[in-house]
Amino acid sequence: MAARPELIAPPEIFYNDTEARKYTSSSRIIDIQVKLSERALEMLALPDDGVPKLLLDIGCGSGLSGETLSENGHQWIGLDISQSMLDVAVEREVDGDLFLADMGQGLGFRPGVIDGAISISAVQWLCNADKSCHEPRLRLKAFFGSLYRCLAKGARAIFQLYPENNAQRELIYDSAMRAGFSGGVVVDYPNSSRSKKEYLVLTCGPPSLSTALPKGKDGDGPSDYESDVDGEETMVYVSDRHRPQKRQKLDEKTTGREWVLGRKEKMRKRGVDVPDDTKYTGRKRKHGF
Ligand SMILES: C[S@@+](CC[C@H](N)C(=O)[O-])C[C@H]1O[C@@H](n2cnc3c(N)ncnc32)[C@H](O)[C@@H]1O
Repeated sequence: MAARPELIAPPEIFYNDTEARKYTSSSRIIDIQVKLSERALEMLALPDDGVPKLLLDIGCGSGLSGETLSENGHQWIGLDISQSMLDVAVEREVDGDLFLADMGQGLGFRPGVIDGAISISAVQWLCNADKSCHEPRLRLKAFFGSLYRCLAKGARAIFQLYPENNAQRELIYDSAMRAGFSGGVVVDYPNSSRSKKEYLVLTCGPPSLSTALPKGKDGDGPSDYESDVDGEETMVYVSDRHRPQKRQKLDEKTTGREWVLGRKEKMRKRGVDVPDDTKYTGRKRKHGF
């Protein structure tokens, strides 16, 4: 089993000049990344109106995923933390606008200007703390929050990802839902250990009928479509989840008898008609309310 690259070094170090060239010259990697990108683009479900869309490729690397967007007539902006990967993308003369950026620091686009986003094999990197100042939960929050703001309402973001375990999976999904996205997980070829692929399908805004999750593909999958990273087999299927409700804070200060009596007194002084105090006023109820 090959070691996961995320466990070897931070992305900007792992994807150095040598690795960036090796990655981009492997026909097996090219085949896999192109297929994953085509599937992500399909799940973006962009309107078939012939108008080119402005898309993001997050963790675009050397441009393998972005090229699928160009081939389908879209404009794209690619960002990556590895200068070496971006250098190879420039050499390959990809059409996208490229820039060096760490997605964990948030995206600096204007609100609502992006029509959709894909991210292929990249976002699980945010679950690692590569520097002492890195807190994965905060980096995911900054990333998903800024992505939510720059996407047009109703736009989708599709993440093909390789979480290392269920805890990482939950952390990524929770962070996305907390940012305001609705959506869930689509797994293609769930019964094939070779071809199984996991996508987080997000829609910018609350769930609606038009944002129903696409169906995962069944069967064994193409034979040249193996995972290049082995993940834990347990899957979570989350669908149509949305921002969790904030639990209402009820502490002693705002529920005790003294506080209720004080409030009533204040209201009386203001001339408000308030019921008389009794032995039941401000009493503790069974469930704390
Ligand atoms: C497996 S490569 C995939 C590249 C490209 N999407 C493709 O399909 O060929 C993962 C990429 O994610 C990038 N990446 C990892 N962490 C990142 C971060 N915090 N910000 C931006 N890019 C990151 C890496 O530098 C690397 O280029």
